[in-house]
Amino acid sequence: MSHQTIIVLDFGGQYNQLIARRVRECGVYCEVKSYKTPLSELKAMDPLGIIFTGGPNSVYLDNSPKVSKDIFDMGIPVLGICYGCQLMAHLLGGKVSTCITSEYGKTETTYDKSCVLFESISELPDTATSWMSHTDYISKLPEGFRITAHTEHCPVAAMENKEKKLYAVQFHPEVNHTFCGLGMIDSFVKNVCGCTGDWTMGSYAQTAIKDIREKVGDGKVLLALSGGVDSSVAAALLAKAVGDKLTCIFVDHGFMRKNEGDEVEEAFRGWGINFIRVNAKDQFMAKLNGVSDPETKRKIIGEEFIRVFEAEAKKIGKVDFLVQGTIYPDIIESGTGDAAVIKSHHNVGGLPDYVDFKEIIEPLRLLFKDEVRALGRELGLSNVLVDRQPFPGPGLAIRIIGEITDEKLLILQDADYIFREEIAKAGLDKSVHQYFAVLTNNRSVGVMGDGRTYDYTLALRAVTTSDFMTADFARLPYELLETVSSRIVNEVRSVNRVVYDVTTKPPATIEWE
Ligand code: XMP
Repeated sequence: MSHQTIIVLDFGGQYNQLIARRVRECGVYCEVKSYKTPLSELKAMDPLGIIFTGGPNSVYLDNSPKVSKDIFDMGIPVLGICYGCQLMAHLLGGKVSTCITSEYGKTETTYDKSCVLFESISELPDTATSWMSHTDYISKLPEGFRITAHTEHCPVAAMENKEKKLYAVQFHPEVNHTFCGLGMIDSFVKNVCGCTGDWTMGSYAQTAIKDIREKVGDGKVLLALSGGVDSSVAAALLAKAVGDKLTCIFVDHGFMRKNEGDEVEEAFRGWGINFIRVNAKDQFMAKLNGVSDPETKRKIIGEEFIRVFEAEAKKIGKVDFLVQGTIYPDIIESGTGDAAVIKSHHNVGGLPDYVDFKEIIEPLRLLFKDEVRALGRELGLSNVLVDRQPFPGPGLAIRIIGEITDEKLLILQDADYIFREEIAKAGLDKSVHQYFAVLTNNRSVGVMGDGRTYDYTLALRAVTTSDFMTADFARLPYELLETVSSRIVNEVRSVNRVVYDVTTKPPATIEWE
């Protein structure tokens, strides 16, 4: 697969993935590489440009991450961002000093619109907001450079050496708070590096399908389908590529949301693949009988999942390829390029050890999550599957506090369905990133009609987040909460109280168990 490539050289900045996603949004393929990668290896990738990320250090410290200054003589355009900007100045003979006044957050910035990074952006005024986060600044320009932006406290908010195609910005164009930041990245990759924007999900799908066909030949392929976005899109891609040489095993542990198992089955039945749905709820429930400890539940479900999958896989016999839904952030985060292990931890702990296969296929390993969704749409998967919010492997089992029973499962499925339905009706299903119901193990007294009730308390959880590592509770309108609460206590039996979880992560987690 060959695309015009930009390299994002990572110096440990918190926005490294965001920069890469922005470049991809410009229709240009890019890869994140460690700053330790030898120049020969970077050169062999034949990049049209290199972007230095930010980083937490000061460039003048001995142990701060650095790169050989030969990188500037490779004839490849470079854009330095924040730490990357200072590093460029430092390596090329400029001076970096500690700020008298640090800048953090939205900062009024004045641009020289004759610079190629800014000139083609008609919406960008001479002065606009950029997002700054720095305690060092460039106090002396390196030779051959000129200043192309400044702020009140930062004389070199951007600089360029047009002749050598070296550009740098002290602010972060990749974050939304920088007005027209995406346009600046687009200008760099297209107008400086000459990328044409050949990275589309349509072209990716075509090339991936061709490559998979060549690789698989007459072999047999096995895929564990969870119904989540990644495994569904991987299944669709493999289905298009190899049809009935693919077998998908969908282990339905019974803890899916209301109707979800059927939706997954329906989505894949007509694809000309071998689709096996294993309804294993009884088996899972038997193992979970009397268990209320969250970690024990998770462990039992993880192990049972493997047992069921293994039993089905054995019926098929030896397969040649096992498909994993590893995506690019897993690869970047692992930092080792060996992401198969990470993903199996996340989802179905250790599957490869138990199944007899020759090789792993990871057809999504180059894609970010939003690209996986775009690919899914390209392949014709329904929005129900493609826009699915994250759902934990153990499913509703970890949203029922305490022991799991059939009755509790039904209560939770019904209440959760109502909550999701009302969120969608209110048009909030895109802006709230995860939302679900939790059945607490708490009962309390209520009154219904003339009678006393003693029923369950149901909790609603809705969060906004960019990475699921931290999260804020969603500020849902009271009217919406009122509708949901009223519908749940009226339509779902055994619930007489609804509460809304107003905790951030940290200190809470998103899931309750
Ligand atoms: P927590 O509860 O740790 O969840 O704040 C963060 C995100 O991860 C999801 N999650 C899981 N996803 N397997 C998964 O694939 C799991 O076992 C699992 N547990 C939690 C959770 O839904 C949230 O999006």
